[in-house]
Amino acid sequence: MAEKKPRALFAEAGTEPEAAVAAPGQASKQKSSNRAKLRVWQIVLAVLVIGMVIVGGLTRLTDSGLSITEWNLVTGVLPPLSAESWQVEFAKYQQIPEFEANRPSMDEFKVIYWWEWGHRFLGRIVGLAFLIPFFYFLATKAIPAGWTKRLLIPGVLIGVQGVIGWWMVTSGLTERVDVAPYRLALHLGLAFIIFALLSWNAFCLSEEEHELLAARRRRFKPQLGFGGLTVALLFAQILVGAMVAGLDAGRGYTDWPLMQGSFLPPHMTPEAIWQFIHRMLGYAVLIVIGMFWWRCRKTGHPDVKFWGMVAILWGLAQVVWGIITLMGGAQWYHAIVHQLGALLLLWVMLRAMFAIAYPPEQKIARA
Ligand code: HEM
Repeated sequence: MAEKKPRALFAEAGTEPEAAVAAPGQASKQKSSNRAKLRVWQIVLAVLVIGMVIVGGLTRLTDSGLSITEWNLVTGVLPPLSAESWQVEFAKYQQIPEFEANRPSMDEFKVIYWWEWGHRFLGRIVGLAFLIPFFYFLATKAIPAGWTKRLLIPGVLIGVQGVIGWWMVTSGLTERVDVAPYRLALHLGLAFIIFALLSWNAFCLSEEEHELLAARRRRFKPQLGFGGLTVALLFAQILVGAMVAGLDAGRGYTDWPLMQGSFLPPHMTPEAIWQFIHRMLGYAVLIVIGMFWWRCRKTGHPDVKFWGMVAILWGLAQVVWGIITLMGGAQWYHAIVHQLGALLLLWVMLRAMFAIAYPPEQKIARA
């Protein structure tokens, strides 16, 4: 250990360089308070992404997505504020094929405009809610070692998401009267990935690094592998769901369990095929989550068992709600709950995976 230098004559107590160095206990307190702040930030971002998914879903379900025909990152912040500027925006909308298909009045146009504007505005808020804290935490050296990249990746994806959103809108401005379904699937899929990364970061920040390292040694490897497979299948189902939504394929074949009286759809249109795949994959996902739950039970760990059970119950509710959504002809109020349910099911699966990957120490019951 370095020897402590004697204090200079007349120097005030507490002004020597050693006093500026935090004591070990203080440093570890500072580290855990930094982790707590970063965690809150990740949770806030994840909640904003949920808001974004809901507003985005409602923008689609109200057919509002093509009402703003330009992309101006800065000037687009302001909505039209005068009758003239509304006229200008309306005139631009009248140039695209969707106007011909629907022929809304000015008042109807204003409604769809506000939805799309709200979605874009919230997107800008999410961007700022990432950028400002990120640079603040970077400048104040509050980011623990090895975390910069993990925090940066969702932020970069938020930026990419904006570009994909616009790329999606452009697919509906010239020939089509709505956006290309595969672009919608990509946009929704990326939103779910951003949400998943933010959630995982928040889980990991809830524990100290040394606690995570200790918990890691207890992890249930076979369950982790199977859980990864389950999440991958769930994600595939989410993408297929977005294709169904993008094609408006939930508005036909509204009988269940059959499709117009037969197991296979009688007419193999893209809408019928995607709906058929979504039905079948939905049942498969439910079965696989059931197997996942069974494996969680086998660990005997209370947290793992609990989250495995939440996953199967939520999965079951999601499938039942999917059937209700379908049989009601994909009404917006059913569809939006189904979409939110999928996002929360993903969260529950990830939470179960976290319990499997970093199981908390079990308390031994007293005799
Ligand atoms: C684990 C099971 C399921 C998951 C995770 C899931 C997920 C999704 C997702 C993410 C969407 C896109 C929502 C949007 O972008 O608005 C969707 C749409 C849809 N899903 Fe599912 N789904 C599941 C099961 C089912 C089942 C079993 C059915 C019916 C038998 C069903 C019927 C529908 C319908 C009709 C739509 C279109 C709704 C619209 O037009 O907005 N889903 N699903």
